[in-house]
Amino acid sequence: MPSTLNLDRESKRALQRLLPRVEQGLSDSISADPQGWQEFTQRLGKYFPALFDLYLGLYSTRYDFFFHLEDLLISLARAWFARPDDLRTLDKARETNPLWFQSNQMLGGVCYVDLFAGNLEGVKSKIPYFKELGLTYLHLMPLFKVSDGENDGGYAVSSYREIYPPLGTLEQLASLARELRNAGISLVLDLVFNHTADEHAWAEHAKAGDEEYADFYRIFPSREWPDAYEQNLREIFPDEHAGAFTFFPNLFQNGGWVWTTFHSYQWDLNYANPAVFNRMAEEMLFLANQGVEVIRLDAVAFIWKELGTSCENLPGAHKLIQAFNAVSRIAAPALLFKSEAIVHPDDVVKYIAPDECQLSYNPLLMALLWNSLATREVKLLSQALATRYKIHPETAWVNYVRVHDDIGWTFSDEDAAQFGINGNDHRRFLNEFYRGRFEGSFARGLPFQENPKTGDCRISGTCASLAGLEKAIKEEGAHEVELAIRRILLIHGIILTSGGVPLIYLGDEIGTLNDYTYRDDPAHERDSRWVHRPQADWEKYAKRNDPTSIEGQIYQGLQKLIALRKTHDAFSGGELEIIPTGNEHILGFMRTHAGRRTIIFANFSENLQPVAARIFEQYSVHTLKHLHGFSNVPPQSDITIEPLDFLVFG
Ligand code: GLC
Ligand code: GLC
Repeated sequence: MPSTLNLDRESKRALQRLLPRVEQGLSDSISADPQGWQEFTQRLGKYFPALFDLYLGLYSTRYDFFFHLEDLLISLARAWFARPDDLRTLDKARETNPLWFQSNQMLGGVCYVDLFAGNLEGVKSKIPYFKELGLTYLHLMPLFKVSDGENDGGYAVSSYREIYPPLGTLEQLASLARELRNAGISLVLDLVFNHTADEHAWAEHAKAGDEEYADFYRIFPSREWPDAYEQNLREIFPDEHAGAFTFFPNLFQNGGWVWTTFHSYQWDLNYANPAVFNRMAEEMLFLANQGVEVIRLDAVAFIWKELGTSCENLPGAHKLIQAFNAVSRIAAPALLFKSEAIVHPDDVVKYIAPDECQLSYNPLLMALLWNSLATREVKLLSQALATRYKIHPETAWVNYVRVHDDIGWTFSDEDAAQFGINGNDHRRFLNEFYRGRFEGSFARGLPFQENPKTGDCRISGTCASLAGLEKAIKEEGAHEVELAIRRILLIHGIILTSGGVPLIYLGDEIGTLNDYTYRDDPAHERDSRWVHRPQADWEKYAKRNDPTSIEGQIYQGLQKLIALRKTHDAFSGGELEIIPTGNEHILGFMRTHAGRRTIIFANFSENLQPVAARIFEQYSVHTLKHLHGFSNVPPQSDITIEPLDFLVFG
């Protein structure tokens, strides 16, 4: 973009030129809803400069830039007119209280509609359970139309406007969203926006030779360009296909190579084409208008591509997300974005900003919790919390221990090197440990996408199986079961007290074990992540209040931690200070918010561990109440922390 451009002036001019055209096109809607139009133009006035700047940055080299910009504005106005009144009311409420998601009342859950409750009506019938658990945020895994058989767990979407029929209908989705909202629960859905299924209408048009739509994807007639790109690309699903492209013999005259970062049936969208931006903005606003309050931006790292780069985390990806953010500020202001960037920690944080993604998964905390359980040491975890945890005060981490995906060991090699740890060797150790192959390992995990070329591998498995419960039940006994339960509660304790939005992968709250039956299902057998995607077992759930059952011990243990979080204000926000405990097995941290503070000590070892009295004195722990944990805390003497105990003072 020419540096001489006066953006302020030009954005005003652009809007002055475009607005009358939008008004003309939508005159009926405007006369039917003049107040709505006024609200829309007010927000447009506020956010158009940002949108214009970003759109220009992305598409200024297109001869038809202005055509697409006008088309976008019309889409935004249409989406706003279609926005139901209750959501417009929500918009205003969120605008007055924009940091609502930082409250200690927040608790997230995530599940698959079919596996958890059969269908959307089933999910509705579980609202009493969600309330019992304390959820205020529910992420339903992809539920849009996909083909039967392999569909990457719903991440190969063939229509963003139709629900996968066995799960229900759009009307049921909107009604569920409303009922959840009435129960104080925000609905979270994915916007799978890096790719569509090869069965999506756009891809079908492309296959039929329609050039407009061929330009929605990145399709090449020969290997020349794919070869050039692949010089710098990482392989994401190497089990399935080498490189990032798949050959489709029926494209063009002699076949074509389609960019498919993930599976061959997931075609990467071409965001260098502004039509793709506009159509996806429409899909996003359509979702928002169904009552979705948070959109999980799937696979954000991959959405912008440039030759000669890794095509991950490029500046263009950030511009795109910021432009989508501006779109939502204008036409669905209540909407929040959560980024899914499971990449190097330096890159993860770049997506987090009030004008980009207000929320982000925290894959580093997740990976390092498991690392600390395996090594029984907290140095990498302490270091990460001390140096990488602080983010913009108007944003929040989504802290989790497990989700539907594999665990990738995405810590920074440079950070590890500070302790003399070699990143690659250490990853190999963690993979061996969590596959249960390392001497003394308690874990029962499976490898995911093992790449013989690079030695790379990630880990599948449920929280309970990775934390030792499966092995303890099947091979060991009561003592090991107890330790496994403590591990599960320990890492959940940390995500529930460290700030941001804690997210529970539903099933983990009752200690669900690995389910190996995925191997009998041809649609799943090649993807070990299905080992941790079992059908919810409601007979086990029925035992959740029985303290003599394992389910009950885990569930009630978690309930205590959740209640602790919700009754102490200090757990709001994201302020966290590390307390050096002088013991390599003990993590210590302090949380402060609105003049309140809490102090936490977590013992990652299976042995008793001492902490010197002077540390308790230094942080005036004795002035606080002992809120959680079973270790004895005598005044003024050294403290001995019980194995895997989670101690909280506040
Ligand atoms: C995201 C999803 C993952 C899926 C991938 C491709 O990372 O979490 O399950 O395989 O995107 O859509
Ligand atoms: C997505 C996938 C995950 C993969 C990652 C690679 O997040 O879900 O499996 O490790 O992309 O960046």
